[in-house]
Amino acid sequence: MDQKIQPTFENRFKGLSRRDFVRYLLAGSALSVASLGKLNASVYQSITTLNQKYIEDESPDGVYWDAIGKHFLFKDRLIMMNNGTVGPMPKPVFNTLIKSFRIQVTNPFDVYNFIPRKKQEVRTKLASFINASPEEVVITRNTTEGMNFVANGLDLKEGDEVLLSTMEHPGGTHPWKLKAKRYGIKIKNVPIGLPPKSVDEIVDGFRKAITSRTKVISISHTVYISGLISPLKELSKMAHEKDVLVLADSAHGIGMLSLDMKALGVDFFATSPYKWLGASTGVGLLYVKKGVQDKLWPTIATGGWDSYKDSRKFETLGQRADALTIALGEAVDFQNAIGKERIERRVKTLAGYLKRELSKIPGVVLHTSQDAYLSGGLTAFHVEGVESQNIVNYLREKYNIVVRTIGNKREGTHGVRVSTHIYVSLKHVDMLIEGIKHLVKHRS
Ligand SMILES: Cc1ncc(COP(=O)(O)O)c(C=O)c1O
Repeated sequence: MDQKIQPTFENRFKGLSRRDFVRYLLAGSALSVASLGKLNASVYQSITTLNQKYIEDESPDGVYWDAIGKHFLFKDRLIMMNNGTVGPMPKPVFNTLIKSFRIQVTNPFDVYNFIPRKKQEVRTKLASFINASPEEVVITRNTTEGMNFVANGLDLKEGDEVLLSTMEHPGGTHPWKLKAKRYGIKIKNVPIGLPPKSVDEIVDGFRKAITSRTKVISISHTVYISGLISPLKELSKMAHEKDVLVLADSAHGIGMLSLDMKALGVDFFATSPYKWLGASTGVGLLYVKKGVQDKLWPTIATGGWDSYKDSRKFETLGQRADALTIALGEAVDFQNAIGKERIERRVKTLAGYLKRELSKIPGVVLHTSQDAYLSGGLTAFHVEGVESQNIVNYLREKYNIVVRTIGNKREGTHGVRVSTHIYVSLKHVDMLIEGIKHLVKHRS
């Protein structure tokens, strides 16, 4: 590096007050690998103690969840109700991330010697977390990459059809648009209600759209605009009877829902663990069912793409930021310590309460189903006569609650989206409701 632009000590920490600088040092980067490990052990010990105390899934007043919430590092009493965009890492995950990068600083040899072996352990953990086999787990960088791997990797001919819903994220539509432009495949959009009334409404919509040229249904499992959880099990059953493959975009699924690939029956499933699982950004997961691996070409190739007999052939990307992967394994450990079924129940309890209270407010129109099978931790709605952006701004200014606007006015999907993860409490939901009531009362 040029001597002149080498960062000096002062430059590196410019803008940090002395207090912040001391905090930075104490926050982990200065801690040894061993002491970071001890910090994590104490977090897990406290969760075990909590689990023993609260054997039932819910403690009456949220004591269990208040205690779990302390393992996150929110600043200034921030109430995070938009982890659907990017979520926080709990302390053990952040510690492990730092620990793994610290190895690169102190002993880079281990980055290529020892860390890659740990990657296999993470693959095994991930597999058991989603009820798949390690040979079906592809460690990607995010959902978009997973969706591209599938769209790009399947052999489709001009005129072959892919069915998408009308509620897809750009990360789920553009891989197919690129393929359409390049190979002349056809994309057909199947409408989904806001919200749909039943499982059958969704499955029948797709069934009717299938023709002899249909090869793939590519659908959001977790619809980012409306919070719908698509009935993948029923869709896969119907699609497979007609020899159609199913690709699920479940960007929000891992860490929000207790996932079971065998029960869902999909062929491909792409997800982003930095939203609900508490992993770092930069690492994702793609599930490719064993029985369909021969139909999929790898998109990125270096040594191994033509010799691996399992999912590893889809991730031969050269040197990776393995610290992210190791931290992903820690995120799985953290959720396992609590229990993924318990997490799903809590997320749905909070969302159910939110929807019930919202639906009592005149002028609130829910975009999310009240059916717990067709919804999860994302709740979307609009309020007649109140701009969604004003709701977002007011909640932030008055309560330090972070939510976001979502959707599109032209398509009638515009509204506010709220994520209710385990660090949110019923009291926080009450604050949000109070804010909406205030805005409704004072609307012009
Ligand atoms: C449903 C859905 N699909 C895909 C994506 C893209 O995710 P990523 O940026 O992690 O690839 C998102 C992001 O929010 C999403 O909500």
